[in-house]
Amino acid sequence: MQDRIYIENAVKSYYSSLESREMGQKFVLLDEVDSTSAYIRRIETDGECRGTVCAALRQTEGRGRLGRSWLSEGEGLYLSAAAFAKSADLARLPLAAACAVSEAFRKLGIAGAGIKWPNDIILSGKKVCGILCQAWGERAAIGIGVNISQSRAAFEQAQLPNAASLAMLGFETDMWTLAAVIVTELERYCDMINAGEFAPLLELYRESCISLGREVVASGASGEIRGTASDIAPDGSLVIETDGGRVSVSSGEVKLRTVKGYI
Ligand code: BTN
Repeated sequence: MQDRIYIENAVKSYYSSLESREMGQKFVLLDEVDSTSAYIRRIETDGECRGTVCAALRQTEGRGRLGRSWLSEGEGLYLSAAAFAKSADLARLPLAAACAVSEAFRKLGIAGAGIKWPNDIILSGKKVCGILCQAWGERAAIGIGVNISQSRAAFEQAQLPNAASLAMLGFETDMWTLAAVIVTELERYCDMINAGEFAPLLELYRESCISLGREVVASGASGEIRGTASDIAPDGSLVIETDGGRVSVSSGEVKLRTVKGYI
């Protein structure tokens, strides 16, 4: 019952801040789901997908990048948006999502956030948001998890020393206003991709990307690549200058050296 009243108010709060044309105009807010992205994938097969955003108060099987799980026990924003793009543009959606979160933070006064390539949002050296885009054909579920009000103890218990919530860093945020602003921005950036106007989005991404100019370590199937991240290529990959020359990395884990060690 408490969840139902909470959900009614959350939905009102969401729609009152939503300024999109289509994305998120269909908004499904569940108290619990396996994964909001899995939900989007399921309804797509029913032809219901276009414009839908699904969020949940908890996920029982929250999914992260590189086969990891995503802590989804509540007090976070767990949201997935149905999107589409030509096959050649699908790899650009994670960049659009990172820019959308970064811009939404800026609009809501959450200052100082940067994007760690490809799409982690970092604030005060801690990860406050993760993004996972999963595609099938020319469709995709853009999954966004933002840590809103979890305690330090919750991350310690989950052995996530590099994670923090916005509340831990001093930002009190209405989760559903944030959701609506993210979706509004996301539609704008996805529209740019679908209109063939990726260059301004890439420029915005470069401006927010804290990996550029820093020492990085990329680990993949073929071992480790160490060097300085120098650019984001037009296909979204990270360009690294190494002792052995220039290398482009298109996926995997890329750690970033900070004064407090690698994140
Ligand atoms: C990462 O590992 O950094 C990506 C995490 C993405 C988590 C979000 S929460 C909403 C959506 N549903 C999921 O199961 N995962 C994404």
